Amino acid sequence: MDQAVFAKRRTELMQMIDNGVAVITTAPEQIRNGDVHYRYRPDSDFFYLSGFEEPEAVMVLIPGRVQGEYILFCREKDPDREQWNGYRTGLEGAISEYGADDAFPIDDIDDILPGLMENRDRVYCVMGRYAEFDSHLIHWYNEVRSLSSKGFHAPAGLVDAGHILNEMRLIKTGNEIRSMRRAAQVSTEAHMRAMRACQPGMHEFQVEAELEYGFRLGGSHYPAYPSIVAGGANACVLHYVENRDILRDGDLLLIDAGAEIDYYAADVTRTFPVNGRFSPAQREVYEIVLQAQFDAIDACVIGNTWNDPHEAAVRTLCQGLIDLGLLVGTIDEVIESGGYRKFYMHKTGHWLGMDVHDVGDYKVEDQWRELENGMTLTVEPGLYIGADDSIDKRFHNIGIRIEDDVLITARGADVLTRKLPKTIDDIEALMNS
Ligand code: GLY
Ligand code: MN
Ligand code: MN
Repeated sequence: MDQAVFAKRRTELMQMIDNGVAVITTAPEQIRNGDVHYRYRPDSDFFYLSGFEEPEAVMVLIPGRVQGEYILFCREKDPDREQWNGYRTGLEGAISEYGADDAFPIDDIDDILPGLMENRDRVYCVMGRYAEFDSHLIHWYNEVRSLSSKGFHAPAGLVDAGHILNEMRLIKTGNEIRSMRRAAQVSTEAHMRAMRACQPGMHEFQVEAELEYGFRLGGSHYPAYPSIVAGGANACVLHYVENRDILRDGDLLLIDAGAEIDYYAADVTRTFPVNGRFSPAQREVYEIVLQAQFDAIDACVIGNTWNDPHEAAVRTLCQGLIDLGLLVGTIDEVIESGGYRKFYMHKTGHWLGMDVHDVGDYKVEDQWRELENGMTLTVEPGLYIGADDSIDKRFHNIGIRIEDDVLITARGADVLTRKLPKTIDDIEALMNS
């Protein structure tokens, strides 16, 4: 990605910390077992500010420092290690490729970092994410404070930079929106591949394979979260990820899965009949969820609050549940009592971005936040009807969620995943084509 984008973000952060110093680390590598690691993914905040993808790196931002404002600690080049584990950018590359003003070996950080805190008012950091790094940071901070009798002033506190970064990340800019459109596009194509492939008798993991093959074909290195491929009753378990049952003729299949592209997530759910035709009971429930989703998307407009799409969805779902005979009372009564939560127990969405459940506050000063241009969120109502004796049998084990990714714009909701079929006619046409 264009390095100017990352430089602009660093400048923006530096403008907000005055005479402070920001110290931000990337994610540690995670051991899977023995000497095998999970596939590496950098920390979202760290990547957002640096574009740097290697582990064992720490950035230091020191606004106004004449010898250089942006210091990157990273691994040195090492031909032996690179033979085994691949390319390292090294110190010169940190400067020439990633725009650091200066770069030092990560192994020297204990000696150098306390000095970079001298004469700074505060240390800005993201605490509580990586315990080991937090303890290093406190150690460096205590060290610079213990030496302050030598004639410089030491920072007077550790301050959370997370909130500043969350606010920056909440509003997406052009590059980010392009990546999110690609993540949505790749996810859309992969979901369509899975829908076309689905047949009674297949295992859930075989449909998952089609889906994730589509992600990889589209250039995604990994799903944005573990794919949920849930047939029949499994669809009523919100985060079912075992994906190992056989898909039965007459059941629905719920797939909640999204590709990550350029470290940006898509988060998409479709629910469709394993055999390609909705039964009458499945249709009845599906049409309610679909209408709730349309109504929630219509509420995704600037000036509405974060909670308005949820309230719109809940109203439509409640009316539908009353019409089906699954709830008794007036619409206001079932909303007031919360009786609908037996069938709809989650919110209608969340912020979406580098993290699938992305950063950003949902309330400001105790009020639901207003939707603004450049925010991205999911809209994902559902109904989950268990095999409860008190419920008409024909609705048993119907779990339905429909989830799209939405960008808030001045012209209304821009549904990034709109090309993925979701009406009954469009799904049946695709599956039987
Ligand atoms: N895939 C998790 C969610 O929809 O929030
Ligand atoms: Mn989802
Ligand atoms: Mn979601």
